[in-house]
Amino acid sequence: MSTWSLALSANTRHDTGYLATTADFIMPPPTLTLSFLPGDLAQIAIADPHRGANILSSSVLAELVDILDKLRERSDLAGLILISSKPGSFFAGADLRELAAKFDTPTERIFDYCQRGRRLFAQLGELPFPTLAAISGLALGGGAELALWCDYRILADNPQTAIGFPEVKIGLIPGWGGTFTAARLAGLGPAVEMICGGEPLPAAKAHKLGLADACVPSGELATAAREFLLLQHGGPAQLAKLRQQKFAPLAYDPVELTFLRHTAQAHIQSQTQGHYPAPLDALDVICQSVGLTREVACDLAGRRMAELVGTPVNRALVQLFFSTEQNKKDPGISRERAAELTPTPLEHVGVIGAGIMGLGIVAANLKNRVPTVLFDAQAQVLSAGARQALEEAAWNKELRRTSLERLAELQPLLQTATADGEFAQCQLVIEAIIENLEVKKQVLGRIEQSVAGNAILASNTSTIRIGQIAAGLTRPERFCGLHFFNPVRKMRLVEVICGPATSDATILAATAYAKRLGKIPIVVRDGPGFLVNRLLSPYLNEALALLHEGISHTAIDEASVAFGMPLGPFALYDLVGIDTSMYAGRTMYEAYRERYFLSPALVTLYKQGRLGVKSGAGFYQYGNGKERERPQFDPRLAELLGITPADNTISIEELQWRLFLPMVLEATRALEEKIVAHVGDVDLGMIFGLGFPAFRGGLLAWADSVGLPQILEKVQSYAALGVRWQPTPLLVEMAAGGKKFYGAESTESGKERKY
Ligand code: NAI
Repeated sequence: MSTWSLALSANTRHDTGYLATTADFIMPPPTLTLSFLPGDLAQIAIADPHRGANILSSSVLAELVDILDKLRERSDLAGLILISSKPGSFFAGADLRELAAKFDTPTERIFDYCQRGRRLFAQLGELPFPTLAAISGLALGGGAELALWCDYRILADNPQTAIGFPEVKIGLIPGWGGTFTAARLAGLGPAVEMICGGEPLPAAKAHKLGLADACVPSGELATAAREFLLLQHGGPAQLAKLRQQKFAPLAYDPVELTFLRHTAQAHIQSQTQGHYPAPLDALDVICQSVGLTREVACDLAGRRMAELVGTPVNRALVQLFFSTEQNKKDPGISRERAAELTPTPLEHVGVIGAGIMGLGIVAANLKNRVPTVLFDAQAQVLSAGARQALEEAAWNKELRRTSLERLAELQPLLQTATADGEFAQCQLVIEAIIENLEVKKQVLGRIEQSVAGNAILASNTSTIRIGQIAAGLTRPERFCGLHFFNPVRKMRLVEVICGPATSDATILAATAYAKRLGKIPIVVRDGPGFLVNRLLSPYLNEALALLHEGISHTAIDEASVAFGMPLGPFALYDLVGIDTSMYAGRTMYEAYRERYFLSPALVTLYKQGRLGVKSGAGFYQYGNGKERERPQFDPRLAELLGITPADNTISIEELQWRLFLPMVLEATRALEEKIVAHVGDVDLGMIFGLGFPAFRGGLLAWADSVGLPQILEKVQSYAALGVRWQPTPLLVEMAAGGKKFYGAESTESGKERKY
């Protein structure tokens, strides 16, 4: 029996075999502390002594069991307050490491855990006195469920406070009664939106929806909670009425319910393309719960939750969560080395080049209140660009327009430069000019003379080696790549590229800067295509090989989209631009000639002026206005490229193997060459830089889910296609040893194999 179920079934901490044994040797400081306040109030203060956020682990649940046992008979009390003494966190959710350890647990047992957890929380609404959650910071997942089971909730009005159910983001639904209580408190529609969308609600909005009884200034939370129970709460009769109303079956007009269900289904389907089952399951459970008693409705949710635990999507998304969490803590260099260094705070940043990328980077700086100096060789481009970046930074998503107030606030942070000397105060200058080695070397060499000796220079180059650009600098140790992805506002990945001379201090500072912008930085060794474009390249290349075998480009794109990619390879070629793709392809070809299938297609299109979306035609043709980016089939393409359509058809699955296995092979080569330090970085790069489907956990998580022996066998079956399909030593070794990229032990610890 697991510790969790033992903990929940135990009446006291010492009744549990596991906990008693642990406690005999090391009694860990508790997370929950019970105290009594004037006015016959009890208070549970929440503060996990070991973690940055409060987490509902099995031991915390066991503590709650103990405390509620002590309070159950205390009819003399005027109320119970649950309040966190850890800033920014009420409860950030259940313990995902414990959840991952249960991936292979039978569904019935998981259902049992759900029932026990929910029954424990339900006791908060059954005590002989009122209970109140005083929430400052995040109340997410299990934390939100705990709060909603209390009789009352008061929120601290600060930017950190939010209530939410992010379970769908890890392929699950709330299993401790949240689907029932949220619908009772906020109404069916808002509960559907909140639970199926997974986005947390800020304090004011949660209050407005009825999820909280009050929203008070942060500093007044504790007092407001006490006063609420002592002065505003109206006694036993009111409490009984409140509980009776809250826990009665939800009534809803059947016609409205059908309408709500169908509209929500259509919306979810359009957002997830059917790849993520949890939001639809959540919708189904919430709608089915209408008219059901609390017990039956909660069992329904618990059962569905139990069925989702350990499914491939759940495993993939939890692994991705662990990789993202690890990335947040990763300083970019070894922790030991990071502890020895004091990172240069990059408070003032310069950007050279007011093109697509430069402006995206400026807008990201401004959004994060980083004072920025912008320069471009063309004065007109500079002034128009500065305006554009400011407008993007001040864009109000909800109102769908620029906020003039924010614009006025951000304007002083942006300065346009007319001379190199104006970069003097910058601690970081990012070059984002044309992709030309000599011009980059010349511009960066000049800027190096104008900035302080400890300033960092970076290039946003997508293909040129950092070592080549550094050759023109006198302080190459203060230079690195900072490769943002297009569009910067959407793409969270930044490759921090370490050139041969780049110092640890530079990587440390650049990584911290990217995080300050809310990005996911991965540190990548210098090399052709760095990581993301290197892995993209064999996929694009194989798509061309298939095209020349007579497979239509639309069939290839459809197979890729069905796999979960946002765009097929040919639509992507058109979006990036045939010219740009051709130049980038040349770089990769120069580096890995023997592995390239040489296709004349790009050159032919280029010579015809078919440069992709920007010129109105590429592999596809494009219309005007709203149709500008919508690929339309062009019947002349095959003839133009001199391709004879194949007689035999090829299945979608076969096309998917052909497209994605070359990426896996390239990833194993990149790992062999230590291009990145962690397996998780490959998958973060694929998901946040390329749009690889998150529900597959990334490229290597997908390979693990298929099984490396099967991957190897499939790769070997394509040996006739040439040397590019030759298995790598790493793949052969791992497949033979029954290994996975993410080891079994690693899923639980959240760490993966390190190369
Ligand atoms: P862009 O062509 O939109 O903008 C380049 C800007 O640099 C232009 O405004 C130009 O006037 C200015 N410029 C050119 N020479 C200059 C000089 N000597 N001094 C000052 N300004 C100069 O280019 P884009 O697309 O923004 O690319 C910039 C860099 O980012 C390139 O290295 C590119 O490879 C890289 N990159 C581009 C991505 C994309 O999707 N466009 C994605 C990731 C990286």
